[in-house]
Amino acid sequence: MALVTKAVKGTKDALPAEIHKYQYIEATVIDIAEKYGYKEMRTPVFEHTELFQRGVGDTTDVVQKEMYTFDDKGGRSITLKPEGTAGEVRSFLENGLCNETMPQKISYVTPCYRYEKPQAGRLREFHQFGVECFGTQSPVADVEIIALASRIFENLGIKDLSLEINSIGCPKCRAKYLQALREYFSARQDELCNTCRDRLERNPMRILDCKGPICSEIASHAPVVIDYLCDDCKEHFAKVQDYLKAMNIEFTINPKIVRGLDYYTKTVFEFLSGSIGAQSAVCAGGRYDRLVEELGGQHTPSLGFAMGLERVMLLMEAQGSEFPAPQVPDLFIATLGDKALVKALEISEDMRAEGFATVLDLNQRSLRAQMKYADKLGATFNVVIGDSEVENSKAKLKNMSTGEETEIDLTTFVNGFYNISLSQQLADLEINGEEFDFSSLFGTGENKEQ
Ligand code: HAM
Repeated sequence: MALVTKAVKGTKDALPAEIHKYQYIEATVIDIAEKYGYKEMRTPVFEHTELFQRGVGDTTDVVQKEMYTFDDKGGRSITLKPEGTAGEVRSFLENGLCNETMPQKISYVTPCYRYEKPQAGRLREFHQFGVECFGTQSPVADVEIIALASRIFENLGIKDLSLEINSIGCPKCRAKYLQALREYFSARQDELCNTCRDRLERNPMRILDCKGPICSEIASHAPVVIDYLCDDCKEHFAKVQDYLKAMNIEFTINPKIVRGLDYYTKTVFEFLSGSIGAQSAVCAGGRYDRLVEELGGQHTPSLGFAMGLERVMLLMEAQGSEFPAPQVPDLFIATLGDKALVKALEISEDMRAEGFATVLDLNQRSLRAQMKYADKLGATFNVVIGDSEVENSKAKLKNMSTGEETEIDLTTFVNGFYNISLSQQLADLEINGEEFDFSSLFGTGENKEQ
């Protein structure tokens, strides 16, 4: 196929037929985050390369192998964001949010770019929903963001996720651990790949991420960081576990989670699913108590997580989760002749101004073709306007599901539409045998049970 009609490998279009699913997921995550006090923030899709080199870490797979980096026409090295956190921290510092009352709670939905081998659930352009909570060292915050992620999964109807947690300590305990790793890997240095031999010197923890078969086999027997925690980190981790238990959030401790990004300290966690193949991590995050400082700010203990929205979608589809039905037009206007088209234009604008989704045929096709089109769109009502309807200012509004027709005055169309559609909705409720609580229309609450 010609390149111009082929999407770049590892990218995916979201088509109109499924867009309501993405919109539903995005609206849900942002809304739930707000319930926890998170306000959305939007940052550019590209940043200076150095931000990721310093923030994510220049010995990580993400920075060494996966970034989309290029020089812009002004000679700056630019990188498409491979993840959301570094850009949020940059903005937090640059825009003075760091001088506001802490904690600052931020959420985002953003495209991310990683040059990875594409497979189900792994894309080169994907979307993350994430939250970042700046300025708290309390273990309550760790548990609150885990609860936030759990609530999202619950509200989206996602089941059977397992939560795995670990603590990877602070710089104090990390020094001892890195020493232990160096000793361990040095003994098998000759078997490591070139990248990992370099990592042995610069950052031996990153050898644990290597996907090469030999390195990962060696890494599977390496010392685990949880055995090297200082008293402070041990206590923090114990509290996180206590609070999770108090909130009935199930978890297991997986001492092997180290996360592939350099900024993490103390608590790290992942939500995993068995329903979407090899790319099982749906959501992951943890603390990064030193990142703000490392990027030039004050000491600001912080934490966050991100979930891959394509993976959330895959999971919901695999589990048969329910999505709200896609929106259909309230009204389709079929027209015959120029005068009718002008009238239809006027009515459709009035309808839209009142919040009714209205579509009219732009191609002036035969009535039959217009009706077929209306059927395809699934419009709730349709109306046909021709010369005689314009002349008499009257037309027939047809309910597409019952076939019922009601005369409507074209001069007061929107009012008429409102009355007819409301009375048909009430009639539908009666047909379905449901009792309609009229007080709910007026919000008096008088008849509501306390
Ligand atoms: P991460 O584990 O690299 O963490 O990515 C978070 C999530 O993004 C993953 O769990 C996965 O659902 C999704 N994801 C990652 N790579 C891909 C891909 N190639 N295709 C599809 N989905 C993918 C971070 O990015 C951290 N910034 C999370 C964080 C926020 N930590 C603290 N705050």
